[in-house]
Amino acid sequence: MDAELLNRELVKESLLNYVVHFEELDSTNKYAKENNLPPDGIVITSNQTEGKGRFGRKWIAAHDEDLTFTLVKKFKISVDNIHLVNFYTSYILSETLKVFLSSHKNLHIHLKWPNDVLLNKKKICGILLDVSGLNAVEKFFIIGIGLNVNKKVIPEDIAHKATSLSNETNIEHNIEEILISFVRNFYSKLHLIDIRSELMSAWKLNSELIGKNVRFLVVADSHEEEAEILDINVDGSLKVKLSNDEVKSFYSGEITFVY
Ligand code: BTN
Repeated sequence: MDAELLNRELVKESLLNYVVHFEELDSTNKYAKENNLPPDGIVITSNQTEGKGRFGRKWIAAHDEDLTFTLVKKFKISVDNIHLVNFYTSYILSETLKVFLSSHKNLHIHLKWPNDVLLNKKKICGILLDVSGLNAVEKFFIIGIGLNVNKKVIPEDIAHKATSLSNETNIEHNIEEILISFVRNFYSKLHLIDIRSELMSAWKLNSELIGKNVRFLVVADSHEEEAEILDINVDGSLKVKLSNDEVKSFYSGEITFVY
């Protein structure tokens, strides 16, 4: 990892206040949290050994091949709108990747509710968000991002639902370039977070869920449901029609999709 390049492009160009790079680290999210890092900076590692995923899962990244980093950022946002940061981050990631992949044919990036980025229907990127200072006007966000870039071997148990950029394109990609471009895009479209309807419409345009039938698990009591997805509401919840025709909305964390 060329930490000098990241510093030059992101800090000296005044986008970020700092980039901290570790050759090896257990988790960039954990480090950012434990060290109370100030906003507008990035913690990144070339070898994340105990990456955390959503729902207590592990996030496995390959040494020197994948992108694992945490962006520390403050947002003036109400508690009701915190989820918008998730939608915003996944939207920016998908836009960034689309530009990177524009010269490749037959590649399709889309978003999967609530915040996965898929490439050719397989997960390529995950976001793990942590918020603190809920009583303050400005909330403090730890935005952890894992992107499978040049990983060749996907663990067998998830090979049907996960992939990497290099697996789909058959070429190696430049990790630093992707990160720099993501950060530039992230900082250039921040106004979208204040215009909730615009952000959610942009997000929906990039997702293919609406009209689809899905199976999901209701986390609270572990029962499975089959439903048609009707919409994503502006508050970020998923509006579905259950098999008994009942229309219900679920928030992120209340359900997980069954693959
Ligand atoms: C998911 O489960 O989809 C979210 C995965 C998030 C992984 C990233 S990698 C960088 C950051 N540090 C962590 O420990 N996790 C996040």
